[in-house]
Amino acid sequence: MTVEAFDAVDVIATKRDGKPLPKDQIDWVIDAYTRGVVADEQMAALAMAIFLNDMGPEEIAHWTQAMIASGERMDFSSLSRTTSDKHSTGGVGDKITLPLAPLVAVFDVAVPQLSGRGLGHTGGTLDKLEAIPGWQAGLSNEEILTQLEDIGAVICAAGSGLAPADKKLYALRDTTATVDCIPLIASSIMSKKIAEGTAGLVLDVKVGSGAFMKDLEKARRLARTMVDLGKAAGVETSALLTDMSTPLGLTVGNALEVRESVEVLAGGGPSDVVDLTVALAEEMLRLAGKTDVDVRAALNDGRAMDKWTAMIRAQHGDPEAPLPVAKDTEVVFAPESGVLTKLDALSVGVASWRLGAGRARKEDPVQAVAGIELHAKPGDTVAAGDPLLTLHTDTPERFERALESLVGAYEIGGDTDSVADSIVLETIT
Ligand code: URA
Repeated sequence: MTVEAFDAVDVIATKRDGKPLPKDQIDWVIDAYTRGVVADEQMAALAMAIFLNDMGPEEIAHWTQAMIASGERMDFSSLSRTTSDKHSTGGVGDKITLPLAPLVAVFDVAVPQLSGRGLGHTGGTLDKLEAIPGWQAGLSNEEILTQLEDIGAVICAAGSGLAPADKKLYALRDTTATVDCIPLIASSIMSKKIAEGTAGLVLDVKVGSGAFMKDLEKARRLARTMVDLGKAAGVETSALLTDMSTPLGLTVGNALEVRESVEVLAGGGPSDVVDLTVALAEEMLRLAGKTDVDVRAALNDGRAMDKWTAMIRAQHGDPEAPLPVAKDTEVVFAPESGVLTKLDALSVGVASWRLGAGRARKEDPVQAVAGIELHAKPGDTVAAGDPLLTLHTDTPERFERALESLVGAYEIGGDTDSVADSIVLETIT
């Protein structure tokens, strides 16, 4: 029988009493939790103690290292080009990865987007791409390397070997009200990204009602913590703080967001989606040493679309196939005329989730067709009776609960000061 170096109760008590966790205790508790020696209820108590008493920068750095050490590390050093990746802290209508990965690949920088599925009101990149007939999320490490070498972009499921401690801990946090905690979010995201082995990383830290970070000050702290963790691990890292008070673009939901992403790749699409895609691409390329590039031109002249087509085909998807469409729709009309001053991201995200676009438990299926189309964005003028939102689902009995979450979600004629002028609020390098 293995003699354990510590007792979980002592580790929990250290943090409960507001003291920093020593390095050897951190190493042990993450390893023992991954091995199943520390029980879920003990880790939940520790996560709550961290939530309440915070962690210092050295503790967060060591906790992140221990999570990385719980699994394998990928190595892209055999590729003929450098790598640059992006990670978003999660938002509503956030389809940016779809146009971004092929766009950056146009400039001979490889993009290894190892992504996840959605949980709760925020969507997941893999759920979106699975709306494309035939597309497959699962690739082996060899297939990832081959696709990065041949095409330059891959969006696929992160294998179970990367930071397995985080997989267990994230699921536990989700059920114990301990997600919204800077040290735990920063270590969760950065352990996966550092283990992935990317050379450059741009973090898209969302701020606003649809994001984990509701205010700018907390978002800055999260961004700064993650940038410091990345740099300490030798990853060129920077962060953009971006607005998530209203959904990104004009669609929320899996197939609807693929359709909008393809519009962006064809040189069109809503301006906020285009502007954020371009800003993130420029930053990813800057980290890869490419500053003199015309990113917008690659959206307008078809080069990004060609990369997209190749990337989707390589994963057995049919980029020409029609996307699935919902059997039922319901329209919400503007009750009065004026300027739309609020369209709340969280409420729209919850409504889309209730229509079937998201899942409540990680094993639940999602509807590719479910979601919401926006016909106006904050700052637009609407007339009474104009369509404001169209709700899509294959199960019309879901409309009632979705409509309930939209009560109070929009305001016409309110205070225009709350309408963000630009999608990118700040850059942290
Ligand atoms: N995304 C993650 O991967 N981890 C978190 O803790 C929050 C968002």
